[in-house]
Order: sequence, then structure tokens, then C-alpha cells
Amino acid sequence: MPNHFDGGDLKTAAKLVILEESLDIYTTIMDANWTHQNWYVDTHAGTGKTQVEDGGIHLDGSAIIAIDEYADSFDRFYFYELDENHFETLVDTLSDEFGLDFDVGPVDVDGEDFLVARAENPYIRIMQMDSNDGVSFLAEHAAERHHWFTFIDPKGLTAKRDTLDTLIDRGNMDILLNYQTTGIMRSAAAEHAHGAVTRTMGDEDWPNAASSDEYVEVYKSKLEENESIAPVKSKELVSPNDQRVRFDLVFACTNNQVRNIVEDIMQQEELWSKANDKFGQSGLGDWC
Ligand SMILES: C[S@@+](CC[C@H](N)C(=O)[O-])C[C@H]1O[C@@H](n2cnc3c(N)ncnc32)[C@H](O)[C@@H]1O
Repeated sequence: MPNHFDGGDLKTAAKLVILEESLDIYTTIMDANWTHQNWYVDTHAGTGKTQVEDGGIHLDGSAIIAIDEYADSFDRFYFYELDENHFETLVDTLSDEFGLDFDVGPVDVDGEDFLVARAENPYIRIMQMDSNDGVSFLAEHAAERHHWFTFIDPKGLTAKRDTLDTLIDRGNMDILLNYQTTGIMRSAAAEHAHGAVTRTMGDEDWPNAASSDEYVEVYKSKLEENESIAPVKSKELVSPNDQRVRFDLVFACTNNQVRNIVEDIMQQEELWSKANDKFGQSGLGDWC
């Protein structure tokens, strides 16, 4: 087994349940209503799988879920992965998983210098670069009529608010984002890390010492300055068996009906048992 992204636990599985069910509803609605293309954009694509702490178990990650279940609904898949080893593992993993033959090489654009892996059926582009630059470029240059489902799944404070604003301003976009609640709290408490908090929040107007809930609300209200996506929905995710780290999935979209459906998906009672089932499928059985 190649060296996959590690540190997964039950909340990783719960996150993937919410992603999967949101994609389900998104593709159902778009297939019935959207006459232009749908693109799946994954800003922090990882290695294809996530290794679960101490378990030796690998969960299928966002890239595999999106291609495996929704290749008929998405016309294009754009994946961004900054780390070169992760990029190579992702290319190998998707090749093995789906029998794809990627053409890998330097991008063919003057003044740009990064690796791209290309497959044509389905249409996939994997870019080894900082997605803040990559998706901003895509949002500014690609045709506006295509609708994107964008998944932003960093570990750490690497998704900049500027990038979010560019995506929201573009329109034709649903965004599911993994907000690093504990990361923000810890960084807000350490002066040397204040720059990262400011880049995530978009300005210096955030509290130095607040509760997790307050840091989530501050972030949501900043996003809601763009009224078209208000109210932004979110779901706290903390593993029942390890409460040290919290992240919150945040959903931004201009369609009220879709917002409410995704909120139901996030708040469903069965979430943790479904997350447990994902571990079961991987051979770990009951986790909590
Ligand atoms: C939590 S993992 C992603 C997991 C993946 N979404 C999945 O479900 O399998 C975060 C990944 O983002 C990558 N990364 C970190 N900063 C990045 C950036 N600025 N642009 C693109 N990728 C980045 C890391 O190398 C890491 O592989």
C-alpha cells in the first residue's frame, strides 16, 4: 500500500458521508435542471485515501468518491494537491482504482511551472500546485456558465478567505468546506500564528480568545457578508472517541432549498452510525 495521507478517524468518515450525500443531492438536482456543464473541483485532493490512526485502515477519500459514484454527472474533475509525493500517490491511486492512464508532465502555459496529470475519460486534471492560486485562476478564466461543486478540505490553515471570496463572487458554485476550528483556536492563541488566522478569516477583526462556537460563528458571518449565500450552514464534527480536535463542515450555496437539504444531511441522527459503517467497509468494524 503506498504512503497515504494519515491521521484519519471517525470524524474523517463522517465528513466523507456528508460529502457523498451532498454530491448525491447536488448531482440529482443538477442533472434534472442544469443545461450547461457541472464540474467537481477539489482544492485539497490528498492521496486518494486516508489512513486511519493506528488502524492500518484506508478510507476512500474525496477524489475516489467523486469519480467512482458521479463520473456520469460531472463533465470535468479538477484536483489540486500541493505536496509532490501526495500528487504522485494520487495519480497512482486513481490509475489503479479506475484503470486510467494519466499523461503527466509540466503544464503547457507560458510563465507557469507546475505538474499536471491529465486523463480524458472521465476528464480529469490533477495540478501539483497551491490551490489558492489554482482555483482563483480557474474561476477567473473558465466559462462562467458551468456550475461547480467545490470541496475545500485542508488540514491546517491553508484555505485563504481571498480564495473563498473569488469563488463566491464567481457564482454558479456550491462550496463544502472543512473549517479548522481547533486549528483556528490554537493559532489565535499563539502570536506567531496570527497571520494564518488573518489569511483564513480575511481580515484582522477576530477575537484572540473565544470559544470554538464563537470562532465558527465569526467565520460564517464573514462569509455571509456576501448576502447571496446567507445563511451559511455548518456542522460540528468531533469524534466521539477523541474530542481533542474539532472541525466544522461549512456549506455555502445560493439556493435556499439545496442549503436546507444539505443541512438535513449534516444534522441527521444516523451520521455517526453511517461513519462507523465506512470503517466497517474498510474492515475495522465498530469504532465507538
Ligand atoms: C485533509 S487532506 C485532503 C484529504 C482528501 N480531501 C480526501 O478526502 O482524501 C489535505 C491535503 O491538502 C494538501 N494541501 C495543503 N495545502 C494545500 C494547498 N495550498 N493547495 C493544495 N493542496 C494543499 C495536503 O498536502 C494534503 O494532502
